[in-house]
Amino acid sequence: MTKTRGLKEAKKKLGDLEKIISMLLKKKKKVKIFESGPGYGKIMMELTKKFGNKVEIIGMNLKPSHGNKKIMVDFALKEKIINKEDLKKIKLPKIIFGDAGKKLPFKSGSIDLVYSQTSTYLYKDKIHFYEEVTRILSKKGIARITLHENPNISKEFLPLLKIQDKIKQIHFEKFIKTFKPIKIIKLGNGKKVIEVKKGKLNFNLNLKSTINTHNINKKWFGIQSIYDVKK
Ligand SMILES: C[S@@+](CC[C@H](N)C(=O)[O-])C[C@H]1O[C@@H](n2cnc3c(N)ncnc32)[C@H](O)[C@@H]1O
Repeated sequence: MTKTRGLKEAKKKLGDLEKIISMLLKKKKKVKIFESGPGYGKIMMELTKKFGNKVEIIGMNLKPSHGNKKIMVDFALKEKIINKEDLKKIKLPKIIFGDAGKKLPFKSGSIDLVYSQTSTYLYKDKIHFYEEVTRILSKKGIARITLHENPNISKEFLPLLKIQDKIKQIHFEKFIKTFKPIKIIKLGNGKKVIEVKKGKLNFNLNLKSTINTHNINKKWFGIQSIYDVKK
């Protein structure tokens, strides 16, 4: 399950993170970054190599076997993203563990950039994650989260985020676009990405049930989260 996609792929799926960081660095000396679900942390290591101590990066994986500090460093050395000399000079990203669909372990307004690539399809409470992202973002902060994750599962479990208003089903993209801190951006290659800015966000949804498709077929990954509109 744990993949090792790096900055090159992130550019296609999330947009130009380096450009966003450079823009944020015009306003402050150090940019604090949170990656949700970094796997082996290739993007985090590439950004550390590029921006050095101008960035402080924290990644959160569900569990250590998906990527911990040792796995991250060994992988970055093997891929020649860094060398042994770099290890003495640069402040490595930190990897913590937990469920990003729950309360995120950051103070409100403390993170300048949040990004997440091919990870939220595995969260039980996806909506809570978006709400938490707006809470932790700093005033000029920005988040980019992949929207169209294409898990190899049976169509009956799609969309992975289902919103029901009584018997009517609400289209997720159309629904979230009506909330001010959220935008769906079309990248140059036509791919869509969710952009979140600082703001108060309460979707007023209730997580009714989840289906872990992996429990049905071991070749499938992805959790379907079904919400209903709170009365
Ligand atoms: C398919 S890998 C993707 C890794 C990397 N982002 C990439 O694009 O190659 C999924 C990642 O999401 C993380 N993940 C899965 N469920 C999670 C959860 N509930 N909270 C936080 N991270 C989670 C896993 O630990 C893993 O790092």
